[in-house]
Amino acid sequence: MEVVVQPDADAAAMLTARLIAARVEAKPDLVLGLATGRTMEAVYQRLATLGVDFSRCRTFNLDEYVGVPTRDEHSYRRYMDGRLFDKINIVKTNTHLLDGMASDLGKEVASYERRIEQAGGIDLQLLGIGEDGHIGFNEPLSALMSRTREKALTPATRRQNAGMFGGDPDRVPARALTMGVGTILDARELLLLATGRAKAAILAKAVEGPITAMISASAIQLHPYCKVILDQDAAGALTQRDYYEWVFQNEPEWQAYRQKTAETFPSNIRAPGIAAGL
Ligand code: F6R
Repeated sequence: MEVVVQPDADAAAMLTARLIAARVEAKPDLVLGLATGRTMEAVYQRLATLGVDFSRCRTFNLDEYVGVPTRDEHSYRRYMDGRLFDKINIVKTNTHLLDGMASDLGKEVASYERRIEQAGGIDLQLLGIGEDGHIGFNEPLSALMSRTREKALTPATRRQNAGMFGGDPDRVPARALTMGVGTILDARELLLLATGRAKAAILAKAVEGPITAMISASAIQLHPYCKVILDQDAAGALTQRDYYEWVFQNEPEWQAYRQKTAETFPSNIRAPGIAAGL
């Protein structure tokens, strides 16, 4: 795993967008796993401006609420169309989301797993992290080998997502369909983005703490190709920040990205609090 701490949330979103763009440029028929939520809004805004050719790309979203029709403003299909798909040259039939209105949810999740497999597996999976440590909607005690299935949402998640439902947690659907932790780990590369102080404590547990089903995001430690992109606030509780910063500043893989960050954010490329000289 590599952890990259950026000066602020804008820089973290831009770096995430650039990494996705680079993967699509290297493999135009990339199979991309996508996430929703507030954190990703800035990524999609940036990604839509980078001039990437998505015409051969296929996408699979992590999750969808149960009982919310596609046309509903709260559906993740509407979220993805409005924030990304309608702004890029992707072919809509190549964009896949779980159907939370399917009459047989068991069949729906099984068919989603099959569709991912038929697409050749996910090349790059984008992830956010919930305040309870979920990835996708894999709430605490989700099996680390779980597959796509229906999950009950925790009160913490319903509170976290209430903003999209007029601030009322009771209006947030109680259940969702989500890729499993095992499904996510099958992706060839993981890219997790977290910004803001509210994520600092759980992020540190997920990245530096023990692997546990209580924090499904800790399972990313098992993945051989995983990048975690953070702003200063989300990185606030990490203990090894100097080392992560050294890797970003010195490893050849990051050189092009270091330069671009410096060009875009010239005044604050080295944020205060990071040991000088490393
Ligand atoms: C949504 C998803 C969730 C979110 C997480 C963070 O598709 O996969 O795991 O990434 O809940 O959400 P925000 O960014 O709203 O804090």
